[in-house]
Amino acid sequence: MDLNVVILAAGKGTRMKSSLPKVLQPLAKKPMLAHVLETCFELAAHKIIVVYGHGGERVRGEITARFPDRNIHWVEQPQQLGTGHAVRQAMDQLETNTRTLVLYGDVPLISEATLSRFLNEVQPGECGIITVKREDPTGYGRVVRDHAGVVREIVEEKDAGKEIRKIEEINTGIMLADSIDLQQWLPTIDNRNAQGEYYLTDLVRIANQHEVPVIGCRVKDPIEVEGVNDKAQLARLERRLQTALAQRLLVQGAILADPQRIDIRGQVQVGQDCYIDINAVFEGHNVLGDNVQIGPNCVIENCRIGANTIIKANCVLENAVIGTDCEVGPYARMRPGTELAQRAKVGNFVETKNIFLGKGSKANHLTYLGDTQTGEKVNIGAGTITCNYDGANKHKTIIGDGAFIGSNSSLVAPVTIGAGATIGAGSTITKPAADNALTLTRAKQVTIEGWQRPKKLDNNKQ
Ligand code: UD1
Ligand code: CA
Repeated sequence: MDLNVVILAAGKGTRMKSSLPKVLQPLAKKPMLAHVLETCFELAAHKIIVVYGHGGERVRGEITARFPDRNIHWVEQPQQLGTGHAVRQAMDQLETNTRTLVLYGDVPLISEATLSRFLNEVQPGECGIITVKREDPTGYGRVVRDHAGVVREIVEEKDAGKEIRKIEEINTGIMLADSIDLQQWLPTIDNRNAQGEYYLTDLVRIANQHEVPVIGCRVKDPIEVEGVNDKAQLARLERRLQTALAQRLLVQGAILADPQRIDIRGQVQVGQDCYIDINAVFEGHNVLGDNVQIGPNCVIENCRIGANTIIKANCVLENAVIGTDCEVGPYARMRPGTELAQRAKVGNFVETKNIFLGKGSKANHLTYLGDTQTGEKVNIGAGTITCNYDGANKHKTIIGDGAFIGSNSSLVAPVTIGAGATIGAGSTITKPAADNALTLTRAKQVTIEGWQRPKKLDNNKQ
């Protein structure tokens, strides 16, 4: 049977104390709702319906922009009258001959594996809930089972008597039923309870009345079904997620100086024996070859780093493609469009943007390279600046194989430096520099004999 998913995301999230709608609060830099949606995509859900309310336009806008190729259906719940009322808003959208899974936009870490198991354990024609045992069940709906273990009802904390409150198995809220049953039962839910809300959990009692078995599937790891109501909970889930992501890297064969001090806000694929020192932050999509070494305090976003390359401490690399056996840093900043061929070196306080550094070429110190193409074995001296911007447009600098750029030179683009050319230190190059020749623009050094240093004026004598 095909699967429909209804994700409840109408909550205001007052306790977040944030201008950002709750389900857009980020975990690993990705909105909580996006985590849930990606899990639904993995489950190959046939139709996904998001019930939105507070900050709805913003939620819709950001999520649609993030998943432009996905068909997500949006249903508004203008007033929050309870979880039963929320699912009811989506009722007309459910497809015939499907099952419906109810998920929550603020329960972001539920895994595809757990949901797949749930979908297998509950048969069509049955109803299912995911439960968990909590030492402190305060605040949650309690799961009441009969002697045979069949779930008879869920009683909300506020409606529960003393005995029921002692039950440690709680309702996570995640529920599964045949769509046709939901369509029949939802309109019969009322709000005669302590909170005056339409409880989705009443479906369990109703299913029993219709002799539909309710299966309670218990998850072992409570973190998967943990909801987020405030920033402390968000921070706790972030740490748990980061720990899990670090474990995944270790399984792939990476060596982490400290698995507690790495942050993965996106993806990292590693070869064997990559060494990652403390406080690395990865964003976007990154691929590291075998034996790559990352020094402490690096921020790496959307980079490809070839085998045996060393990134030293405190580098910030964004959208860079770095070849094999390269050396980068410490304190290098690579901006988008940076490409390093094999054995290239970019040293301390070097900024690059939209450049290609050929095989074995070096820019070791204090340099800005923008819109530059270099050949092989080029040496770019300390303090070299490519002047790529004239205030209106960007221009290219092209440097031939084996060129040597003396320290503190300005290469005013568009400009070409020939193969084997040498540029004298302190030159400002505005015209093509010939192959295999020394080009320099400095004034000649002179010595003035008998020159006197200026004397300090005596201000009182004026
Ligand atoms: C609900 C369950 C409870 C369970 C707990 C787990 C009911 C009646 N109770 O309680 O058994 O133990 O979750 O956390 O379902 N929402 C809407 N529209 C609404 C109401 C809620 O979209 O009108 C969304 C909220 O944004 C939230 C989720 O549904 O994401 C749960 O709502 P909440 O009010 O937190 O449920 P609880 O009362 O905690
Ligand atoms: Ca409530």
